Amino acid sequence: MKTRVTEMLGIEHPIIQGGMQWVGLAELASAVSNAGGLGTITALTQPTPEDLLKEIARCREMTDKPFAVNLTILPTIKPVPYQEYAQAIVDSGIKIVETAGRNPEPFLPMFKQAGITVIHKCTSIRHSLKAEKIGCDMVSVDGFECAGHPGEDDVTNMILLPLAARQLKIPFIASGGIGDGRGLAAALAMGADGINMGTRFMVTREAPIHQKVKQRMVDASELDTALIYRSLRNTARVFRNSVAEKVMEIESQDGETKFEDIQPLVQGVKGRELFDGGDLDKGIWSAGMIVGLIDDIPTCEALLSRMVAEAEEIIRNRLSDMLSA
Ligand SMILES: Cc1cc2nc3c(=O)[nH]c(=O)nc-3n(C[C@H](O)[C@H](O)[C@H](O)COP(=O)(O)O)c2cc1C
Repeated sequence: MKTRVTEMLGIEHPIIQGGMQWVGLAELASAVSNAGGLGTITALTQPTPEDLLKEIARCREMTDKPFAVNLTILPTIKPVPYQEYAQAIVDSGIKIVETAGRNPEPFLPMFKQAGITVIHKCTSIRHSLKAEKIGCDMVSVDGFECAGHPGEDDVTNMILLPLAARQLKIPFIASGGIGDGRGLAAALAMGADGINMGTRFMVTREAPIHQKVKQRMVDASELDTALIYRSLRNTARVFRNSVAEKVMEIESQDGETKFEDIQPLVQGVKGRELFDGGDLDKGIWSAGMIVGLIDDIPTCEALLSRMVAEAEEIIRNRLSDMLSA
């Protein structure tokens, strides 16, 4: 498949692995890139900018294909030296960056000067248009189905993607709720030049998380995600475990929820321990509705070839047969 995304990023398949806190390590990013997609290292998973430089070097030892770095600019419990992380990205010679969270404008001059292609992840059409206006090269359009932060508008990709196709000039990537060839073909049909997946890539052999977490997601249905932090207007879609249910219960109590009320339950370190140790109720973890369509744990190579073959079959046979009938 040849699209503006494959051409601009120098990749074989129009499939991107989005930034994932605690999951976007060199093992996964290199496996996705070696399989012909675009892998992504998550900057803030590394404790310092120096560690990020080392992780990028480690990934380069595992692949000679392009890969990206995600820089997520969100409210955090501990302050983050974003400028230093951005500088480390530039110094590393990385040529593709996925930004997310807040407006990436403060970092664009340094990224552009370094010849970096910037993909900004947005959850609304107005933010996508703004990203285009300030000079981002592409946007990733994250629908309400997605894992992580879907924003507060609750608009699904069935609406967001055609809106993006009508209004954007720069290429856009469909993100959220995709995990098979049908999703890929549908996204392309709706005007996207590629897709971005998080949850589906968590459930691959190379994802550096405990087997029990992967298996729980294989066993899950599309009803097994939950929306937390709604009351704080910082909504996150996570896997529906006992901790997520407890957070929702606290948020539904009368009066204003303060972050301090839920902080002990949602600490990032607990999420990391959950991924490492496989204790499924240790903390919270991001997961999208696509869990309902995930029923195996393939290698990234097997996943990508299967998805592309499935999408090609749909486009070449199923759809074109409808026209020739
Ligand atoms: C475990 C996990 C952690 C994530 N962490 C981040 C993050 O740190 N920064 C970010 O921009 N997106 C993050 N995301 C969102 C993904 O990059 C991607 O936009 C999203 O997963 C797409 O939806 P999908 O899961 O339905 O494919 C995360 C997703 C998951 C599943």
